[in-house]
Amino acid sequence: MRDSFGRTIDYLRVSVTDNCNLRCVYCMPATGVERRTHDEILRFEELERILRVAVDLGIRRIRVTGGEPLVRRGIVDFLARVAHLPGTEEVTLTTNGVLLDELAEPIRAAGVRRLNVSLDTLRPERFRELTRGGSLGRVLRGVAAAEAAGFDPLKLNVVLLRENLEEVEHFAALTRERALHVRFIELMPLGEGSCYAGGHFVPATEARRRLEERFELEPALVQGSGPAVSWRVRGGRGTVGFIAALTEHFCDRCNRLRLSADGRLSPCLASDQAVSLRDALRGGATDRELVRLLHLAVRAKPQEHRMESGQGKGRRMSQLGG
Ligand code: 5AD
Ligand code: SF4
Repeated sequence: MRDSFGRTIDYLRVSVTDNCNLRCVYCMPATGVERRTHDEILRFEELERILRVAVDLGIRRIRVTGGEPLVRRGIVDFLARVAHLPGTEEVTLTTNGVLLDELAEPIRAAGVRRLNVSLDTLRPERFRELTRGGSLGRVLRGVAAAEAAGFDPLKLNVVLLRENLEEVEHFAALTRERALHVRFIELMPLGEGSCYAGGHFVPATEARRRLEERFELEPALVQGSGPAVSWRVRGGRGTVGFIAALTEHFCDRCNRLRLSADGRLSPCLASDQAVSLRDALRGGATDRELVRLLHLAVRAKPQEHRMESGQGKGRRMSQLGG
C-alpha cells in the first residue's frame, strides 16, 4: 500500500491489550487506566481476520504490543498463528519483560525471532519508582531468559529521562559483552507523557554526546532497525541506537499503521483519526469492506506529526502500543 506521500506502508503495530502489570510514570496515571470490558477488546479470531486481510494488502511485518501483551491469556498461541500466516515476513513483540522468565522460550518456539524489552533503568530502587512498584530483578531474569532463548536481535528500549541520563553509559557498557541492542528513545509528549515530558525530556543528541565522551562509537547496522541510528562501542557485541522521534522526526520514512486493542486503526501515533475495524467486523463487514477501511487509514496518513506543538496530548501510549 502507498500513502498520499509515496510512502510504502508494510508495517502494522498491534496492541492486544491496554492492561499492564507495571505503571510507568510517563505512561499510566497513578490510579491505572479504566479496564476495558472483554467485549470492547478484539477477540484473537477477529484480530487474525484483520491481519490476514492486512497481509494480503502488503503488510509484511507485524509488531505485537500493549499495554503489556504478555498479560493477555492465550498470547503465545496467538503469536504462533500470526507468525505462520502466509505472507508475513516477521512477527516481533514489545514487552516490559516481567513475564519473560517463563515465556521467552515458548515465544521463541512460537516463531517470534526478534524481541524488544522496555527497560529504563538498571537500578532497582529507580526501577521501582519509575514503574511504580516493579521488580528490576525479575525483568533482568527475563532478559537473560530471552538471550538464552536466542532472540536475534534482542533490543532494550530505554526511554530517555532526566532521571536515567546518568545511566546511558551503563546501558552502553552492557552491549560490550552481550549481544544486546540498546535503543534510547526520546520521551514523546503523548498522554501521561505530555505532563511528564516538561521537566524530564532529554534530547537524543545529549545522550549521544555523553556516550561519545566515554566510548569510541562506530556506526553499525542492526537488522530491522527502522528509525534508529545505531552505533557500536568499539569491539562490542551489541549496539546502541537513538530514536529521536521529536528532535529529528522520521515521518518521511514512516511505513506503519497502528491497531488498538479495541480495534481502531490509526494512521499516525499523534493522529486523532481512526477507523473502527471492530465495529465494521461486528456489523458483518466482508473482506472487501475491510480492505476499503485499511486503504482509508493509509490515505489518512498525515505527512508528519506535530507532537512538539501539542498534537496527541490526549492519546495514551498504553492504548497505542508505542
Ligand atoms: N514516549 C516514548 N516512549 C514511550 N513508551 C511509552 N510511553 C512513551 C512515551 N510517552 C515506550 C515504552 C515502550 C514502548 C512500547 O513505548 O517504554 O518501550
Ligand atoms: Fe506498562 Fe509499558 Fe506503559 Fe510501562 S510503558 S506502564 S510497561 S505499557
